[in-house]
Amino acid sequence: MKTLERETTEGVAASGLEGIEAARTAISDVDGDRGRLTIAGHDVEDLAALASFEDVCLLLWDGRLPADAQRERFRQALGRARVRAYERLEGLGSSLQATDGMDALRAAVSHLAAEGDEREDMVSVTAAAAVFAAAWCRVRAGHSPLVPDPERGHAADYLRMATGGADHAKGLEAYLVTAAEHGMNASTFAARVVASTGSDLVSAIVAGIGALKGPLHGGAPGLVLDMLDAIGEPERAADWVEEELRAGRRLMGMGHRIYRVRDPRAAVLEKAVEALEREGVARARLRLARATEKAAQDALAARHPERPLRTNVEFYTAVLLEAVGLPREAFTPTFAVARVAGWCAHVAEQRRVGKLIRPSARYVGPASS
Ligand code: COA
Repeated sequence: MKTLERETTEGVAASGLEGIEAARTAISDVDGDRGRLTIAGHDVEDLAALASFEDVCLLLWDGRLPADAQRERFRQALGRARVRAYERLEGLGSSLQATDGMDALRAAVSHLAAEGDEREDMVSVTAAAAVFAAAWCRVRAGHSPLVPDPERGHAADYLRMATGGADHAKGLEAYLVTAAEHGMNASTFAARVVASTGSDLVSAIVAGIGALKGPLHGGAPGLVLDMLDAIGEPERAADWVEEELRAGRRLMGMGHRIYRVRDPRAAVLEKAVEALEREGVARARLRLARATEKAAQDALAARHPERPLRTNVEFYTAVLLEAVGLPREAFTPTFAVARVAGWCAHVAEQRRVGKLIRPSARYVGPASS
């Protein structure tokens, strides 16, 4: 059949838009060659060691870390917003009955309406993501949702609402800080495209949730645990990995579009697991994870000497979130609970740009007769 496809692909971006800079941003920088993630001028390692999730929200939204008084005001505002979100649970219909946590979160968040005050809306949707994701965890386990405690920090309250306890809240705090923002990833781009049309914040966040659900983006950490379960013992890791690759399957938690070295967030989260290990949690899991990581990296290096495929954020996310007590089905919703902060920052930045994102495509279908 005659098509209109031109002979060359010149001028057509690679199918995954690799290397295309789609925006100027002051929010974060991902340096894939050096393995660095800088969020508004701060290395992610430093933030994970020192900052709370509230600090990172303000860093992302205002471009600087807060002073003590401002942090406290924001902590209280986010706590009050969690209480307001909880009061909405009854109006969510069957949203929280969904089997998949991301389906539940997408449906629940879409019940919100942006009120028009940008900052208020950002606080509301950030709070609601945590309350709705936690409520889904409870409903799924056959319990009633727990009332938020506005006096607690966001990470500790989310963990308590989701699991009934908050013994390892420090580990979850490190995770929420580390996962809050990561450049022009697929869900952030999706949210920015929606924002660029002049649509509202809630619609942009719903688009972000939809994109994050996929296993090539945020849906991998639960699958990493499935992989560790299937391997079972550190001694089996190398054989299991070989079999998996021979069958043409991908190893979850490995490879990244941008990083050509180990994802710096993997190191941060591995450290957070080590801190829990010192409290007697996750010892066997960490041993298995490390053996699997080594086997996977060795096997991938042998198969793809031209393309470094190293550990990504999802690998130790799985180990950490399991160690803090979250069920694996809640891992991707918990990613959304963190990333909503970054989406909000990008939506606000995109609005300031004020330009519709509308690329074109080269037609390669049949010619009209
Ligand atoms: N396991 C096995 N092989 C992998 C791999 C993985 N995790 N990641 C990439 N590869 C291989 C591909 O099979 C492909 O090989 P080929 O050229 O022989 O076909 C090559 O590496 C390039 O892969 P490609 O899909 O083009 O890279 P990408 O930049 O589009 O993909 C990911 C990036 C993250 C989607 C990819 O690495 C992946 O699927 N990882 C597993 C899922 C995951 O952990 N997601 C969380 C991301 S933070």
